Amino acid sequence: MRLTILGGGGFRVPLVYGALLDDHAPGRVTEVTLHDIDGDRLKAITGVLAQQAMGVPDAPAVHSTTDLDEALRGADFVFSAIRVGGLAGRAADERVALEEGVLGQETVGAGGIAYGLRTVPVATHIARRVAAVAPDAWVINFTNPAGLVTEAMSRHLGDRVIGICDSPVGLGRRAARVLGADPADTWIDYVGLNHLGWLRGLRVHGRDELPRLLADEHLLGSFEEGRLFGTDWLRSLGAIPNEYLHYYYFNRETVRAYREAERTRGAFLADQQSAFYADPSYASWDRTRAEREATYMADNREAAGAGERDEADLEESGGYEKVALALMRAIARDERATLILNVRNRHVLSALDADAVIEVPCLVDANGAHPVAVDPLPGHATGLITSVKAVEREVLTAATTASRAAAVKAFALHPLVDSVAVARRLLDGYVSAHPELAPLRA
Ligand code: G6P
Ligand code: MN
Repeated sequence: MRLTILGGGGFRVPLVYGALLDDHAPGRVTEVTLHDIDGDRLKAITGVLAQQAMGVPDAPAVHSTTDLDEALRGADFVFSAIRVGGLAGRAADERVALEEGVLGQETVGAGGIAYGLRTVPVATHIARRVAAVAPDAWVINFTNPAGLVTEAMSRHLGDRVIGICDSPVGLGRRAARVLGADPADTWIDYVGLNHLGWLRGLRVHGRDELPRLLADEHLLGSFEEGRLFGTDWLRSLGAIPNEYLHYYYFNRETVRAYREAERTRGAFLADQQSAFYADPSYASWDRTRAEREATYMADNREAAGAGERDEADLEESGGYEKVALALMRAIARDERATLILNVRNRHVLSALDADAVIEVPCLVDANGAHPVAVDPLPGHATGLITSVKAVEREVLTAATTASRAAAVKAFALHPLVDSVAVARRLLDGYVSAHPELAPLRA
C-alpha cells in the first residue's frame, strides 16, 4: 500500500507515521510519500520520521517531493493535511475577526470563512490533479475547515474523498469512559456538520446510556464537556455538543477571553513551531507536541471556569491519526468498521440536499463510507446546520467564481456575525491580510 501525505512537512505527520510503525498486519502501508510546497519543512519532518523508524525493521519507506503530480502517481491513499498560508495565515484569520469584535477562530465563524476562502481553490486544484493522475486513490481529507473542504473536493472526486476529524471520536470515547463502558462496545449516535454536531445517544448492549449520564450530576460534571458547557445546559439540550459548539453557546464569553489573550492560538502555535523547525529533532518535536496538546482549548476552559483538562481526557483527544489509520484499514482490507466521517448527506438529514457534506456515523468497507440513517435533529440544531451550510455554499461560490457579493453574504449569514456592515469590514480586513484574496477586493 502506498500512502501520499500532502502537507508532508506538517507538524502532525510524525503522529501518522508513528501509527503506521505500529501496524504490522498484512496489507499495511509500506511506502509513504511526503509532499509539501516547502522543502525545508519537508526535510525537518523527514528527519524526525527517520529517528522514529530507527530499530523498526519493517518501517514504511519514506520518500519526499515538492512536485504534486509526482507525489500522487501510484498512490492508493492520499491524506490531505495542508494549511494554506501556514500558521501565520491562521493567526491573521483569528486576529482580523477579534479586532472586529467577533469570534476569531481557526474553523468557526469569520475566521473559518476566511480560512475556507483561502483553502478551497487549493483543495480544488488538488482534487483535479488526483482525478487526473490517481483516479483510483482514496482521498482522506484532514484539511480544515474539513467539512467545507471535503465538499469542495467531492465536486471533483465524488465519494472517493472522505473527511475526518478527531473531535467526535474523542467525545464518544470520553462519554463511554465516564459511563464505565468500553468505547469499542458502544454505538455513538452523533450527527451534524464538522465541528458542529451533537451526541444524542450512546448505546451499550442495546440500551441508551446517555439518559443515565445526563441524570447523574457527578458523572456529568466529571468529564470535559460537562465542565465546559455546565451540566444544566447539557440537561436542557438533552445531548452533548461537540466542544466547538462552545463558540456558539458561549460566544460572548469566548470572544472576550480571546480578545484578552496575549496571543491567538495560531500565533502561539506559530511561535512554538518556529522553534521546532529551526532545530528539528524527534525530542524537540515530542516536547512541542506535548505542550501543544496540554494547552488545547485552554482559553475556552478558562472562560467557562472549567479548570484544567483531565489527564485521561488528554489521552482521549489525540486520536486523529488513529481515525485515519482505521479508515484506511477498513477500505484496504475490506474489514467493516463504524467511524464518524464527513461524507455526502444523501438522505440522512432531510433539511440538507444530497451533496451537502455532513458528519455522521458510517459503515466503512472496500467500497467506501456508507452513512447510516439517524434520528432527525431538533429544530434548534437543524437551524444552525442549515445556516452554516448556507454559509459554506457562499464560500464555495466566492472561492470558485471570485464573487465579492458571495463572500460578503458568507460572512453576513453566519450566526456569529451580527451585522452586514461588520461582514463587509471583515472581508476588507481579510483581503488586506491575505494577498491571495485580492480578487475579492471592493
Ligand atoms: C482538533 C480539531 C482539528 C483542529 C485542531 C486544532 O484536533 O479536530 O480540526 O485543527 O483541534 O488544534 P490546535 O492545537 O491546532 O489548536
Ligand atoms: Mn477537526
